[in-house]
Amino acid sequence: MNKKLLPSAIALGISLSLPATAATMFRDTINVERTPAPVSQTHWQDNKAEMDAFIDGLIAKMTLKEKIGQLDLQSGFRNVTGPFINDEYEAQIRSGQVGAIFNAYGADFGRALQKLAVEETRLGIPLIVGHDIIHGHKTIFPQSIGEAATWDLEAAKLSAQVAAKEAAADGIMWTFAPMADLVRDPRWGRVSESAGEDVFLSTAMAVARVEGFQGDDLAATDTVMATAKHFVGYGLAQAGRDYHTTDVSEHELWTTQMPPFKAMVDAGVATFMTAFNDLNGVPATGSQFLLTDVLRDQWGFEGFVVTDYTAINELVPHGYARDDKHAAEIAFNAGADMDMVGQLYTGYLAELVAEGKVSEEKIDQSVRTILEMKWRLGLFEDPYRYNDEARAAREILNADNLEAARDVARKSFVLLKNDNQTLPLKQDEIDSIALIGPLADSKFDMIGNWAAAGDRKDQPVTVLEGLKARFGRDVKINYAQGATYAYINDKATIEASQGIGVPRIEEGHRSLARDMKRAISAAKKSDVIVMVMGEEQRMSGEASSRVELTLPGNQQAVMEELKKLGKPMVLVVMSGRPNDLRWADENVDAILHAWYPGTMGGHAIADVLSGDYSPSGKLPMTFPRSVGQVPIFYNQKNTGRPFDANNPNQRQEHYKSRYDDSPNTPLYAFGHGLSYTEFHYGELTLSSETLTPDGELHVSVNVSNVGDYAGEEVIQLYTRQHVGSITRPVKELKGFQKVHFESGESKTISFTLTPEDLAFYRAGMRWGTEAGEFDLFIGTASDQVQKATFTLID
Ligand code: NOJ
Repeated sequence: MNKKLLPSAIALGISLSLPATAATMFRDTINVERTPAPVSQTHWQDNKAEMDAFIDGLIAKMTLKEKIGQLDLQSGFRNVTGPFINDEYEAQIRSGQVGAIFNAYGADFGRALQKLAVEETRLGIPLIVGHDIIHGHKTIFPQSIGEAATWDLEAAKLSAQVAAKEAAADGIMWTFAPMADLVRDPRWGRVSESAGEDVFLSTAMAVARVEGFQGDDLAATDTVMATAKHFVGYGLAQAGRDYHTTDVSEHELWTTQMPPFKAMVDAGVATFMTAFNDLNGVPATGSQFLLTDVLRDQWGFEGFVVTDYTAINELVPHGYARDDKHAAEIAFNAGADMDMVGQLYTGYLAELVAEGKVSEEKIDQSVRTILEMKWRLGLFEDPYRYNDEARAAREILNADNLEAARDVARKSFVLLKNDNQTLPLKQDEIDSIALIGPLADSKFDMIGNWAAAGDRKDQPVTVLEGLKARFGRDVKINYAQGATYAYINDKATIEASQGIGVPRIEEGHRSLARDMKRAISAAKKSDVIVMVMGEEQRMSGEASSRVELTLPGNQQAVMEELKKLGKPMVLVVMSGRPNDLRWADENVDAILHAWYPGTMGGHAIADVLSGDYSPSGKLPMTFPRSVGQVPIFYNQKNTGRPFDANNPNQRQEHYKSRYDDSPNTPLYAFGHGLSYTEFHYGELTLSSETLTPDGELHVSVNVSNVGDYAGEEVIQLYTRQHVGSITRPVKELKGFQKVHFESGESKTISFTLTPEDLAFYRAGMRWGTEAGEFDLFIGTASDQVQKATFTLID
């Protein structure tokens, strides 16, 4: 094994340069027995018999070593996404020991690697080239949690389509997305990569993304294979600490964690990725129950399963395998087809076959699933179909893609608060804006943490650039960075940053004070203060758990100083998680959550601040008041002692489920998000007071835009079952529609409910419905709804 700790130069993404003569150097030394060119693979189902015959023939020719080689996934150097890297992958490709590679984008780079596999191995089996294309390849869309905040499935699909189009010209045919882990703990940095806390929304987003990435033909040169990840339970890492254990009841697992994954199987997702976590005592990567019993036998998944990065090796520290060889045996027999980076299959599977611990038939099955995907990608027909510099030049960062990214970005912003209609900024009333904050002019941060191939130096449009482009000479922008988002750990620095002008010896202290002074002087000469604050991009992502949800650095201190000026204050938050925004909620006039908005983020933010676009995003995750409320989510259980904050006799509420030092309610509820315009909801109309086993219940509500702006509203439908054989949540999202309204326009919005929408895992894990009383809620947020009731009858 050639595992090495990463040298820092590699961490910066240095590319591998292949000698131009590599192919010729080796060609004569090996016995090239090329794979014959088969019939077209573009409509694989029509040609399934040919595919099967071709793959049968190929497997029959393969040695055990070559078969095991197909089960190996290596990482290139173009990005670094894990703790180890193997710098011998080129030689391993040549020797037929690599079936797929990732972190290796670029049409030319991919072609060079593909050539090694196609021209220099005995059988010439092409590589699959993958990459983490999470929210855009080079045109970066909003971070996944922001995309979820659009509540717009077409937008999510479009983002995936654009990403696929750019990637599939740039040497990539496989993405490790979507991540469908359901999350409830904002301390976990990867909530940024999720679609939030709700199973209905997460499932819908996951399916839209799979459809967007894969289209209806994997061999098309504008689609890529998707990966359903991480299977399963990774989003419930204990204490919000990445890679930590998940302990979840069977009921909860099947109710909230499994459904997005099942839906992706039904949507035809090509691959699955295992999860790092220990799930109820068995690490997911070694779980036969998950990878075989559920995924293959119960759900009928036909693609292949890749492990997460060195996740097989990690079965040893998990305490589930004695050593690496034992780990390989467990993971392979459990159903993990492909080993990401760890090289344990290439290291040990042959020995395990010789010892009778792994069967060659099972290896053949795994190889078959991988070769089938290679066929379906069209790689046997033309291994270079995804390496097209001309197409890449046409597709990557083209005007349509950038416009789509701008549109999806502005749809993702959530207006959390807007007192006195501070937003939009009124151009006829203001001459100047103070633009302050470490994220106001940071190209580096705009595209978020997981924008692997995205440019961070030139392409991203910052808020400063966006506002200048929007307002031109009409409004003066007085910019000052003002604050730092870097963690400040020493007390002296924190004090220095708060006391302006306090003489300190250390330069760091002085410069914080100097920055603050600049911010104050910019604010003094401006009509309104716009602060762009939040988290440095690296804080919201993998391996970025936090114990505090407050804005890091001295950002709060700077806001407090600016507040003293008594001017209108707008806070634009950039971060990939719910933050503790209590101070801002009490002190700032308007708050817009912008996540990490992507390449066109600055323009999109200017669109919203200027009123060219009225915000329409809704929170996909509850914002707590403080980290102490975590985990907090809208679809909680009622408890036996539900607390009633509205009871005038609060003494009666003492022995109730509540905190002594905080309300139970969140700062901003799931589904919350304001608009510049105002939507009025009429009364709910139900087609019947009962729902029969074969029946449908139609519910409608009249929604009117009674404000001055055109805008989009997300109309949300929730239900609550009063009594169940398993206690039911206080609300469950069952439907939503994002609808555009002109100013003054009214529309009747209708939903249809069937008993299947009300089915759940009943006592004894029996899926089905239970007759009884239900509440039905429709509204603009989970905590702002109108209620009706109906009865489900047997
Ligand atoms: C580890 C992450 O958990 C996974 O999501 C990602 O796809 C792999 N690294 C590859 O970069």
